[in-house]
Amino acid sequence: MTKARKAEIKRLIDAGEWIHVTGSRKNIKQTEFYLVISGLLEEDAVQELSDYRHHKMTNRLQHCLNVSYYNYRICRVLRLDADSAARAGLLHDLYHYDTARYSKTSPAIRHSKYHPMVAAEAAEHLIEMNPRERDMIEKHMWPVTKPVPKYAETYIITLVDKYCAVIEYLAPQPARFCRWVRNRVGSRK
Ligand SMILES: [Fe+2]
Ligand SMILES: [Fe+2]
Repeated sequence: MTKARKAEIKRLIDAGEWIHVTGSRKNIKQTEFYLVISGLLEEDAVQELSDYRHHKMTNRLQHCLNVSYYNYRICRVLRLDADSAARAGLLHDLYHYDTARYSKTSPAIRHSKYHPMVAAEAAEHLIEMNPRERDMIEKHMWPVTKPVPKYAETYIITLVDKYCAVIEYLAPQPARFCRWVRNRVGSRK
């Protein structure tokens, strides 16, 4: 991709005219996936997720969008319920508090066990969940949490959630590294 193209994409993203997921430069507004989640994405409860940092390098809305997108793509290839996978992915971390603060102040129940319950309850206010969506949201932390997934889609979200956590953490690193090199070279001139 040329520098000019990258700059144009960044400008569109900053202007809110482009929605992308981590690991891809595709404008998801131009995909079938977007039709499935566009209504939910406009909900205040979903938009407010962008106020919370998630996995150190991103915010919770971007993470949920990432999980939703990759969940949808994989379930579609496997001819599973991709629409439910997209909705559950977007809502799987629907909680509005700071994770680190929770872990410090509420040790009685571990966050890994607590937040899927909170997310499922919050999701109930937005959609009439089908059994698959509920299973995906409530058990997305498996095997950290005990109840075993009931559907193939749930096993997929458990993997996609972890995959997204890794790419969210690593994706900004090459840019940081390049900046560091540029600064070093620049300071020698
Ligand atoms: Fe989660
Ligand atoms: Fe997650």
